Amino acid sequence: MSICVDVIASVLRENRYVQTFAVDVAPGGGHVSIKATFDPRKMRIEHPAYPALKARRLQRWARVFDAFGQNEVQNEESPFASWNSSYTGRPLPAEEMQVWLNSTISRIAALNAKSVLEIGCGSGLLLERLAPTCREYVGIDSSPLSIKSAESRLRTFLQENSHVHLHACAAEELPRLGLGTFDLIVLNSVVQYFPDADYLRSLLAALRTMLNERGSIFLGDVRHLGLLRAFRAGIAKANGPGEITVGEFRRKLDRSVEEERELLLDPRFFHTLSGQHGQFSRVMVSLKRGLCDNELTKYRYDVVLCTDEHPIRDRIVDEIHRGFDRDAIAASLKCAEPHAVAVRDIGNARVALEVSELARIASSEAKDICNQVIGSTQVPVAQHPEALHQLGASFGYDVRIDWSTCNRVDRMDAIFSNAGPAYATVQHIEPPTSAITENEPLAADMRVQLEKELRLAIEPTDFRLEFELRPCGTA
Ligand SMILES: C[S@@+](CC[C@H](N)C(=O)[O-])C[C@H]1O[C@@H](n2cnc3c(N)ncnc32)[C@H](O)[C@@H]1O
Repeated sequence: MSICVDVIASVLRENRYVQTFAVDVAPGGGHVSIKATFDPRKMRIEHPAYPALKARRLQRWARVFDAFGQNEVQNEESPFASWNSSYTGRPLPAEEMQVWLNSTISRIAALNAKSVLEIGCGSGLLLERLAPTCREYVGIDSSPLSIKSAESRLRTFLQENSHVHLHACAAEELPRLGLGTFDLIVLNSVVQYFPDADYLRSLLAALRTMLNERGSIFLGDVRHLGLLRAFRAGIAKANGPGEITVGEFRRKLDRSVEEERELLLDPRFFHTLSGQHGQFSRVMVSLKRGLCDNELTKYRYDVVLCTDEHPIRDRIVDEIHRGFDRDAIAASLKCAEPHAVAVRDIGNARVALEVSELARIASSEAKDICNQVIGSTQVPVAQHPEALHQLGASFGYDVRIDWSTCNRVDRMDAIFSNAGPAYATVQHIEPPTSAITENEPLAADMRVQLEKELRLAIEPTDFRLEFELRPCGTA
């Protein structure tokens, strides 16, 4: 059996994607277990099977949304029939979805575009509200049945609005449509279904060339990478972690983070798209609006990417506050002159407690009981984002709220402006390049691929081989 271990170790050592490994032979032989980590980023860039895995994932999402499209055709009176809660699996409450839809519409409408390309338009929820004030509106979607659902749901609307065109077409196939240029390109609740961040990067580079001079790109509902663990922990908690130990809870959480199949991005991913080498002159990230704290408002955000010539100009921030002091901020907002005030590093009440609980779980002993650790976490001092909007409105200010420039996921920065939309920006305190800003949605598929290849190379004949392969460098 010692020869067998040497052979296995050399196969693992020579594999370019395996990072660390340990081989364990059960007493008496006959059973070998391997624990190893692998590098999914390297596999994405170098592995010859990756393009096929990626194509398969794109097709799989198209099939998933085809099923949703069919469901929508059968449930025409309920436009949110396919929006299900990750906590319960049941549809999200219609009134919460209505708030989500209305606030998304008003964000996009504020960009005042006359020609719009919407990528991933689904059943046309946004289109039917936005298209009437446009000169041209093109919607594409990779799911043919979603396009069919939009055509059937909006039959009369489409007859009356001949400037609206729909195409069953995936984002990467856009060139085949031979479209012109647009004031605005919308991707709402779509990028999470992209196979990796490079797909988004190259799409954005292509879309940049399809923008009119004063154009912009709106990316809505982007899932926040830094909050993935908090989101997953919240789901586990809602389903009752029970009397399990902290060690077990952490292992469960690690697995569910590694198995994540959607693309999640840190807001810093977008900030790197502007600046000296960026394609966009302004990147505006905003927390979602709404009083209801659900998975859409807590863990997602919207982004607007502007070209140089875009009419929304940066405003100079006149005053910067550090931390939330209502009286001091109110005194600053009393100024009647055109004025912009930044308030940095405010606790975000939507996620502050969950993030604190997670920190306690991370620092507790593995044998501690999870429920007790969670139950004894103190509620942090924090503000609700909507309370900041209300404060601004009471003094006649627009407010834009971004994740904090101090790069803590439970903190936010607010910019109050009384001279038009609050699009002023503040410099990031930490350079955006220092962190992992994207996950690898195909990591689980790569794990299966790598295990298959390692098994073939090791060729177990007289023993049983068990693998525990885990991606390294995940969030
Ligand atoms: C959650 S729905 C959002 C629909 C719509 N944007 C909205 O906000 O109501 C996501 C849509 O994106 C589409 N989609 C996903 N990946 C795509 C891709 N690579 N190219 C084009 N459409 C895609 C799906 O088919 C689906 O209809």
